[in-house]
Amino acid sequence: MKNNNKISFVLDGEIVEIDFSKNHNLKPTTTVLNYLRSAGGHKSVKEGCAEGDCGACTIAVAELDGNQKLSYKSITSCIVFLPMIHGKQLITAENLSGKPLKAEELHPVQRAIVKHNGSQCGYCTPGVVMSMFVLYKNHQNPSRETIEDALTGNLCRCTGYNSILKAAEEACSRHNRDNFSKNENKIIEHLKSIKKNYSDIEIIADQHSYFRPSTIENALLLRRKHPEAIIINGASEIALRQTKHNEKFKMILDLSGLGELKQISFDEDYYRIGAGVSIEDLKNEFINEFPIINQALKYFGALQLRNLATIGGNIAAASPIGDTLPLLIALNAKLLLQNQNSERLINIADFIKSYRKTDIANDEIIREVLIPKPNNNFIYKFYKISKRKGLDISTVSACFSLNLDQNNIILKIVLVFGGMAAITKNAIKTEEFLTGKSWNINNIKKAGEILYNEFEPIGDARAEAETRKIAVKNLLLKFYSDINS
Ligand SMILES: Cc1cc2nc3c(=O)[nH]c(=O)nc-3n(C[C@H](O)[C@H](O)[C@H](O)COP(=O)(O)OP(=O)(O)OC[C@H]3O[C@@H](n4cnc5c(N)ncnc54)[C@H](O)[C@@H]3O)c2cc1C
Ligand code: FES
Ligand code: FES
Repeated sequence: MKNNNKISFVLDGEIVEIDFSKNHNLKPTTTVLNYLRSAGGHKSVKEGCAEGDCGACTIAVAELDGNQKLSYKSITSCIVFLPMIHGKQLITAENLSGKPLKAEELHPVQRAIVKHNGSQCGYCTPGVVMSMFVLYKNHQNPSRETIEDALTGNLCRCTGYNSILKAAEEACSRHNRDNFSKNENKIIEHLKSIKKNYSDIEIIADQHSYFRPSTIENALLLRRKHPEAIIINGASEIALRQTKHNEKFKMILDLSGLGELKQISFDEDYYRIGAGVSIEDLKNEFINEFPIINQALKYFGALQLRNLATIGGNIAAASPIGDTLPLLIALNAKLLLQNQNSERLINIADFIKSYRKTDIANDEIIREVLIPKPNNNFIYKFYKISKRKGLDISTVSACFSLNLDQNNIILKIVLVFGGMAAITKNAIKTEEFLTGKSWNINNIKKAGEILYNEFEPIGDARAEAETRKIAVKNLLLKFYSDINS
């Protein structure tokens, strides 16, 4: 059923419907943060940066997974448009011990924050609490690494992180049942009923058109009919054009409702990854299967961002500092592009044409990313240099692969760099120099000189050009030392 001008979600335990044709204060591009702050009773959700960077606006969303159970995720609500939360439950700090549960006590994560003095001015605290709540729901006795990963996206300028981390450790050391567990069946029924009554969303209100199709067929039809519409999936690139640059979007084609784009499947030759698979799901899927993918995505933004950002969005953004591009180019990945009548496969390296320009036609979408299964003769490494370890865009990134014969001769070496040119690209001269040579420190040092001169990067706020040139030379040395150690 097409759903004109309306979306539905669960808030405070009940279904909320927004009719954009009646509610003129809201636009389809209103962010979830702004909606919650205006909705009444959810002022805990704060705006810090409005660009997904500080975590003050963190909320939890629960949605139905493949087994019709609730899956909880943290997201930064400042960069999410309202229709993207259609069919989900929104949870804010107010819901943890108050609405609608009327619980007598604070939630265990709140109690732990109080006990360990995990809050001073309090501005970041509701966001911290929500990240901790999602950790509590998803993990029992999490490792220190998992706790830090869950909280990296929440910046606190005054408390100091130790007390926050201690609180998380204590709260999550027990069972993960709480008042939400008791209420889950009701929420599941609400979400199922929203799903049953709605499919495609079409909002035409106040000179804004917003389409959120539920099938690929409808998405491709809309893409052909409205080539001028801006495609979004996680919106983590596009939303910033509104929140930071005040751009007004006339028409949006939102692919985030397409279950078909969220599938990962394996065939004989390829891992086939739907363009709408989130960076976090992709990272987790390949922990054991192909660890280089997991390693490359570990320091991609923070958890709230990785829950939104998609692989298709990262590729289509064609940023020279996008983290998936060096990885996918080094792995020789292909893209499946689709329009209403046909589909085509293209090498990812050929898809990126120039700075933020791709080979996509204005009736196509990226449907799938095909990664060839790993060749056991190759060693793979990924490196990201950024100003801070967590939650930062790359200054320089690199993905290398190497195949040596029994005599330590380099049969094939692939060296792909991001942040060194207008597009992510191979260091072809260095690769040519090393191919057929012995894998030893002398040759690596000579190759480092060639590499130093191979790129003419720009200097910017992240690093001077010279720093980048030295960095890539050192990354090659690190690659050598990592493999030989
Ligand atoms: C705080 C913050 C931290 C970040 N950190 C990192 C980082 O560490 N590493 C990194 O690489 N990036 C980072 N990014 C950038 C961004 O999150 C990624 O590029 C992300 O993968 C984009 O995916 P998305 O689905 O959100 O894209 P969207 O914003 O929805 O779309 C991005 C582009 O892709 C197009 N598009 C999306 N899906 C499709 C499709 N299926 N077919 C055709 N076109 C499509 C859109 O039209 C748009 O041009 C960060 C962003 C923020 C805000
Ligand atoms: S307001 Fe800073 S992440 Fe949303
Ligand atoms: S308590 Fe003040 S910013 Fe965290």
